[in-house]
Amino acid sequence: MPETPPPFPYPGSKSAYTDEIVEKVPQHTHFVDPFVGAGGVPLALPRPPGITYLADADADLIHCLKTIRDHPDELISRLKQYPYARETYRRAQEVIFETTPSSRGIDRAALYYFHRRAAFAGADGEDAGFRATADGRRNAARQYWNSLDRLHPISARLQNTTLRAQDWRATLAAVPDEGHTVVFVDPPYRGTADHYTIQTADGRTASDIDHTTLFSKLDALATRTNVDILLTLDRDTPQLENKWTRFSLGQTENTSGSSAQRSDVLLTSFTPDTGTSPSPSLAHWA
Ligand SMILES: C[S@@+](CC[C@H](N)C(=O)[O-])C[C@H]1O[C@@H](n2cnc3c(N)ncnc32)[C@H](O)[C@@H]1O
Repeated sequence: MPETPPPFPYPGSKSAYTDEIVEKVPQHTHFVDPFVGAGGVPLALPRPPGITYLADADADLIHCLKTIRDHPDELISRLKQYPYARETYRRAQEVIFETTPSSRGIDRAALYYFHRRAAFAGADGEDAGFRATADGRRNAARQYWNSLDRLHPISARLQNTTLRAQDWRATLAAVPDEGHTVVFVDPPYRGTADHYTIQTADGRTASDIDHTTLFSKLDALATRTNVDILLTLDRDTPQLENKWTRFSLGQTENTSGSSAQRSDVLLTSFTPDTGTSPSPSLAHWA
């Protein structure tokens, strides 16, 4: 069970796999995440003694995480002023997707948070977050109000954490020389970068990732003896030219007892010390 669950659902979140990933994270002094999203993996880990450096290209996302870290009381009180209603969701959509601010305050962070919570499972849709399930068990509004109670623990966990709105290249360049760093890399999968719209200085644009460059920079970084990298990928990603250890994530048993494979894989630049063996036939990229 994660130490601190993430603040909101997020597209491409690894929350279904957090435990599987966290158990493979080796001892470290510093932790770096260039594609932090809702931060499920770093929040699930105990705080390391050195630097925790979390970044994402989406300036609104990072502003919201910084507001949770630095101003949780103001954020919660602003969120309590909003009705949990479609009008607030529409206003949040307009502000977040159609305006580019010169500076960001509590209101924008609150609208970003509201949007993420109300968008059903993190995906946008006309009825997102306001639809009751047929059996009435899910109550989105109650989940939303309960989520506000979790903001203080998240704020506490994010103290002394560096949060940066920037491209992944700048984040990898910030990996410290000294100590032992774990880098957790969860990029948009190939063909899905445009699922993420990111707020930059020029407005909200579709993200774009050059995976070939990313993989070659990670391969180079992994040659440092004091850096261990964990990389999540779609099973169909063309093979990397490397010798990393490969695990299937989310292997579950279906009702007939056979293994139902999910489409995500985890590559590690090191051999995790968990007693879990990687699947032998997939141990190396060819
Ligand atoms: C798969 S999601 C990360 C999900 C996250 N690990 C979680 O569990 O919530 C990928 C993230 O990459 C970010 N992103 C897209 N393009 C980027 C870029 N060029 N540099 C840094 N981050 C980028 C997106 O904003 C998105 O938050």
